[in-house]
Amino acid sequence: MAKHVLPLVPKAGKSVFAVLSARVGSIEDNRLGGWYGYRASKAALNQFMRTIAIELSRQSPEAVCVALHPGTVDTALSHPFQAGIKIKKAFSPAYSAERLLAVTDALTATHSGQFLAWDGRPIPF
Ligand SMILES: NC(=O)c1ccc[n+]([C@@H]2O[C@H](COP(=O)([O-])OP(=O)(O)OC[C@H]3O[C@@H](n4cnc5c(N)ncnc54)[C@H](OP(=O)(O)O)[C@@H]3O)[C@@H](O)[C@H]2O)c1
Repeated sequence: MAKHVLPLVPKAGKSVFAVLSARVGSIEDNRLGGWYGYRASKAALNQFMRTIAIELSRQSPEAVCVALHPGTVDTALSHPFQAGIKIKKAFSPAYSAERLLAVTDALTATHSGQFLAWDGRPIPF
């Protein structure tokens, strides 16, 4: 997607290219193990975003490229885990989307290349 979308980003002015990553993709934050494939795919996604951010800054210095963690959200993806003890409470999809839009609204080029949570706080890679 980035390959086809990024050439369309204006050279000036704020644009945001954001993806839904997941905190479990953080290597530094991994204290529980498990979810090998999911963790690895999100870690790879984060590396893509970091690289894209650097490349994009050369073409569009005001553009922002970030990986976002939406929080634990009540969806088909999290349902299997909600039955157990691993997840205590989950956001509604609407609340998570609202928070992510608020985060993207507040972004500037200085945030490009970061991995951010639903509350705007950075997550270590
Ligand atoms: N839920 C959480 O707690 C949570 C936490 C962290 C990160 N995330 C991330 O948030 C994103 C959305 O997850 P979700 O919780 O909303 O999961 P979800 O309810 O399972 O929804 C996944 C969505 O992806 C679409 N999809 C799946 N495979 C696809 C494919 N090959 N091509 C095109 N579309 C495809 C599905 O389409 P159909 O409905 O048509 O199948 C569905 O709309 C994911 O990247 C997930 O890793 C979620």
